[in-house]
Amino acid sequence: LPSLPSLYALTEEEEMLRDSVRKFAQEVVGPKVYEMDEAEQMDPAIIKGLFDQGLMAIETDPDHGGAGASFTSAILVIEELAKVDPAVSVLCDVHNTLVNTVFRKYASKELQDKYLPQLSADKLGSFSLSEPGSGSDAFALTTKATKSEDGSYYTLSGTKSWVTNSFEADIFLVFATVDSSAGYKGISCFVVEKEMGIEIAKKEQKLGIRASSTCVLNLDDIKVPAENLLGEEGKGYKYAIEILNEGRIGIAGQMIGLAQGAFDKSVKYALERKQFGQAVGLFQGMQMQFSEVATEIEAARLLTYNAARLKEEGANFTKQAAMAKYYSSVVAQKAAGRAIEWAGGMGYTRETGIEKYWRDSMIGKIYEGSSNIQLLTIGKFITKEHS
Ligand code: CAA
Repeated sequence: LPSLPSLYALTEEEEMLRDSVRKFAQEVVGPKVYEMDEAEQMDPAIIKGLFDQGLMAIETDPDHGGAGASFTSAILVIEELAKVDPAVSVLCDVHNTLVNTVFRKYASKELQDKYLPQLSADKLGSFSLSEPGSGSDAFALTTKATKSEDGSYYTLSGTKSWVTNSFEADIFLVFATVDSSAGYKGISCFVVEKEMGIEIAKKEQKLGIRASSTCVLNLDDIKVPAENLLGEEGKGYKYAIEILNEGRIGIAGQMIGLAQGAFDKSVKYALERKQFGQAVGLFQGMQMQFSEVATEIEAARLLTYNAARLKEEGANFTKQAAMAKYYSSVVAQKAAGRAIEWAGGMGYTRETGIEKYWRDSMIGKIYEGSSNIQLLTIGKFITKEHS
């Protein structure tokens, strides 16, 4: 048979990776989803499995133990994992699109040589920007970094909150200010190892993505070697937001995977369940709803893949990334809500696994820049383009 044109213009490598992740997600993650959700704990075997499959260093250079694959590959991995478990998906997403990328883009060769192989092998990364008093207003952070007199180390003190992966993480990217009088131009990025003294003050109990850890961290006069300043002093704000622009495409990928996962489970159920002498899903009212949601998922997917390709091409993708994240979160919530309705009482119970998608979908509008922040970002571009 002649080979079909590649769907979404994926390369052969991207399709192969997507198919192998799909298998891993269904066979390895699938059986553990509810157990982990109920325990509010990620199974260490799943994290190890992600490393063993090479899914924790997707874009990292092979010299540093990675796969050297495309950014779109990372998005496909996040999407496939989210179809089965959005909690596992975000663990992989933060590690790849935020942590590894900061090292790859901004760290010195010394820091890359030291940390990227560890982040490829078995050390989990986390990204600590938010604080109790600075969420959407991220650059209002107050965690301080004070350089020692001899210049050999910084002392970090402050509180970080909403830190994804932090319960299991070994390596933390911590944003702190070296000069609060400089406003956001004092923000710097540090590589902090858990053993340097990061203390977990609280593990949040959440509505959704419950197996993914979210903690409050105390940094109580932690000494960090001066060479662990990542990039330049005062440039941390730029690193943070530029990486978040990319990361937002990752969350869009998580949301379309989630939407598709909920949709697939529920439609299958509705086509099997019989009422009034026929499958519920064959009623015209149901068919129309399926079509509406399927169209919206496809539109969100195209926005997401397009933003990913723009990024790969080196074009400006900030507006498209914000659109992809904003819209995919809306679609995910709608798809997961409809999926519960289509499966009726069974969708509302834990038996079908559908209700979890709805709980998990709610985070899409909150993290890595809330929906309002995405709309403001898009708005800035619209104003610029029309003035
Ligand atoms: N891309 C690149 N640069 C940007 C930018 C963007 N999207 N938005 C702002 N900037 C730059 C500006 O150019 C400016 O820099 P210069 O002075 O060098 O030109 C600087 O940032 C300040 O700009 P503004 O005054 O316009 O920005 P602000 O202070 O009003 O807000 C912001 C900026 C904090 C970035 C805000 O728009 C934002 O995105 N808030 C959300 C923060 C966020 O995403 N947090 C996620 C936490 S991490 C997380 O959730 C991960 C996880 O655990 C899953």
